[in-house]
Amino acid sequence: MTRYKSNDPELTRRKFVNIAMGTTATVGVVSLLSTLGSVNPVFKLTPGKMPPMEGDILVHAEGDKAGQPIALADLGETLTPAWPMGQDADGNPVIRKAEPNNLLAVYAFPSGQLGGETKLEATIDGSVVAYSDICTHAGCPVPDAKDGNGMFCPCHSGQYAPKEGAIVKGGPPQHKLAQLPIKADGDKIVVTDFFLSPPFGYTTEEAWEAYLDKVRDAAKLKGKDT
Ligand code: FES
Repeated sequence: MTRYKSNDPELTRRKFVNIAMGTTATVGVVSLLSTLGSVNPVFKLTPGKMPPMEGDILVHAEGDKAGQPIALADLGETLTPAWPMGQDADGNPVIRKAEPNNLLAVYAFPSGQLGGETKLEATIDGSVVAYSDICTHAGCPVPDAKDGNGMFCPCHSGQYAPKEGAIVKGGPPQHKLAQLPIKADGDKIVVTDFFLSPPFGYTTEEAWEAYLDKVRDAAKLKGKDT
């Protein structure tokens, strides 16, 4: 088979024009993206996207009782999935499930078994503890390990220890699951503050705190968009 190189000036010109047009288009797209990127997005939160906050009640996330408040008696040593439920500006209940990080893992371990990095003062009687159930590596929900040894993320084999403050025990996650401070109010479980460490998507305390500052500001705007 004969190989040759075309020196046809018309082909060369067309090739140049095509390349130039492609380059121009690329530059155009890049500059458009740069322009869009330079515009500060408006920070807007609906009640369903707010992070769990003081006064929220934990409700069942699945099963026959989905949407109903979790009673202490419902809990055990296996993971109970939960959502925080707050209120909108008119006082109507809102389950905050539009934000994936708000999916929670709640446990009741026998007294004396919680330790490690668990903030005991943010648990109920050193027994009931709640964490964000979203893996800090890439955002998958984390169930209990099948062998009963802690929590095991099915996406890339991340392992967490719920009795030790949900620290990482194996796999690629770099950060523990975020503990949510709670207290008992009668038989209900009530949130007392924001997550105590950054949940998935926030790699530093500073980034998480900056986000919370925006949330606090948005929460002050009674009604309308918050
Ligand atoms: S998302 Fe959990 S280990 Fe990767």
